[in-house]
Amino acid sequence: MHLKVLPATAKDLDQVSTVYGPETGDLVAPALAICWHIEPQDLEAAKRRAQWSYKQQLAFLQPRVDPTVRLMKVIDTDAPAGKDIVALGRWHEYPHGYGAHGDAETTTKLWEGDMTGLEVKEFNTALYTNLLGELFDKRREPERFGTGSQWVLTTLATREPYRRKGAGGMILGWGLEQARKAGVPAFLEAAVGAKHLYESHGFKEIQKASIDCSDSGMPGVVVELAIMRADPGT
Ligand SMILES: CC(C)(COP(=O)(O)OP(=O)(O)OC[C@H]1O[C@@H](n2cnc3c(N)ncnc32)[C@H](O)[C@@H]1OP(=O)(O)O)[C@@H](O)C(=O)NCCC(=O)NCCS
Repeated sequence: MHLKVLPATAKDLDQVSTVYGPETGDLVAPALAICWHIEPQDLEAAKRRAQWSYKQQLAFLQPRVDPTVRLMKVIDTDAPAGKDIVALGRWHEYPHGYGAHGDAETTTKLWEGDMTGLEVKEFNTALYTNLLGELFDKRREPERFGTGSQWVLTTLATREPYRRKGAGGMILGWGLEQARKAGVPAFLEAAVGAKHLYESHGFKEIQKASIDCSDSGMPGVVVELAIMRADPGT
């Protein structure tokens, strides 16, 4: 196994929809994974979820939709072509803060559009819209991410068999290096399980965010996130 971090293209995203299942894992990131639970052996459901995830990721790369996107992949150069992407992460470069770019509005429209054509019973779309809506609102609050130039990590996923081998850290390190060169901070929202990884790369928690899912079909479930900041140039 030899891992390498590189920019990802729309063509690379084919692997999001074609490589999934118990042996390979998938590249579906947390918000979708939380809202669309699948049983590990249910290949049909895994396929539907992977295809939806593909459509969502692809939407970000359409020309002019979101010029801030820097989609990065980690490949295993020893794996066969077409099955070599082991991790995917989406960084955004926001020269004037998150709120100035309209990313949230654009993204929400894309997701809503996609949902209309792909309604599936396993996918709790109310919860998804609620979770992301709250996240977008929080990002826009000036005391969270600020209004200055910044890099923001919005998605990170490593295929299960490849976890704990440094792939996620490579994507993290790539974005931090861009922020360091630009002399600007980096931000992200960490799920509980990933917080330690981010801390070991220099991120510090600046606020907690709790999103109550009771009104979205998951009574009593609260998603806890840590809003984190790194200042790699200092
Ligand atoms: C979170 C996630 C992206 C991390 O990806 P990853 O490729 O496993 O990340 P890394 O391998 O760089 O680091 C993970 C851990 O493995 C450790 N590690 C890295 N290389 C290692 C190696 N060669 N041997 C042993 N441990 C290693 C890291 O120190 C880190 O430990 P920590 O979590 O205790 O800090 C992955 O677990 C994942 O996809 N989870 C589901 C989706 C998710 O939660 N995404 C993040 C949402 S905020």
